[in-house]
Amino acid sequence: MKILVATEKPFAKAAVDGIREIVEGAGYELALLEKYADKAELLAAVADADGLIVRSDKVTREVIDAARNLKIVVRAGAGYDNVDLAACTERGIVVMNTPGQNSNAVAELVVSMMIFISRNQFTPGTGAEVSGKRLGIHAYGNVGRIVARYGRALGMSVKAFDPFVDPRQLEADGVEAVGTVEELYASSDYVSLHIPATAQTRGSIGYELLSSMPKGGVLINTARKEVIDEQGLIRAFEERADLKYITDIAAEAQPLLTEKFGKRVFATPKKMGAETAEANLNAGLAAARQTVDFLKNGNRRFQVNK
Ligand code: 3PG
Repeated sequence: MKILVATEKPFAKAAVDGIREIVEGAGYELALLEKYADKAELLAAVADADGLIVRSDKVTREVIDAARNLKIVVRAGAGYDNVDLAACTERGIVVMNTPGQNSNAVAELVVSMMIFISRNQFTPGTGAEVSGKRLGIHAYGNVGRIVARYGRALGMSVKAFDPFVDPRQLEADGVEAVGTVEELYASSDYVSLHIPATAQTRGSIGYELLSSMPKGGVLINTARKEVIDEQGLIRAFEERADLKYITDIAAEAQPLLTEKFGKRVFATPKKMGAETAEANLNAGLAAARQTVDFLKNGNRRFQVNK
């Protein structure tokens, strides 16, 4: 059986070596397609693959149709909005992610972004401290939880909104449970976004929430650009000269945002939240283990299209 690792944005070498060891150790063949520029390369490479490991690579219906032997797709990472779940489910293909494996890398980026934007992008002169401020976590999943812990260590008071998490769990972590998303934004100096991009969340963060933030409010987005209503953000920022936005996933309108709002906005040159040696290794190896364990033993733990 053949397992294809298709990564436009390749894993670090150590991760690829580890993946190879796991795949070949299980008696399977490993195929690598890295830094591909053209979708046609992916369509050709996936044709005889039994398993597919990807990062943010788009696994569309066209890809699934081209993959006649495919049994499993593992997204090495958390968000699987890049995989056409319906197309996979129709063909009986199992889709998994590797939850938690790259969370710390993203959480550390959040902390650095929070400080970077508070110090006016490392511009000497005035800046603000995060200690003593209120940090709101929008969705208390694997990343949100770590950000909450780091926020508390920085001397911030931390609250979170997550309708899927028992408030008692938040309280046990020293995090105040907030009942509505409106309350979270209205009462947080910093909001860190950790919601997935789904039909429900796309464009859900916009004018109303941003303009409800306290004076000097900062939105940190290491989740997905699609959850932002960019026109709403622009309107809120035009009305409120104190708001700031920092993101790891550049907005469609990022050049315009920079032109209009200067140092109040910042986007990393390329999405880099999970781009650490550790996260690459953890997520890559987990993806390889999960793929092999499914093909050999039928283990469906972490399946997301049940
Ligand atoms: C994730 O969903 O795990 C992160 O967004 C990381 O994505 P990447 O593999 O494209 O860096």
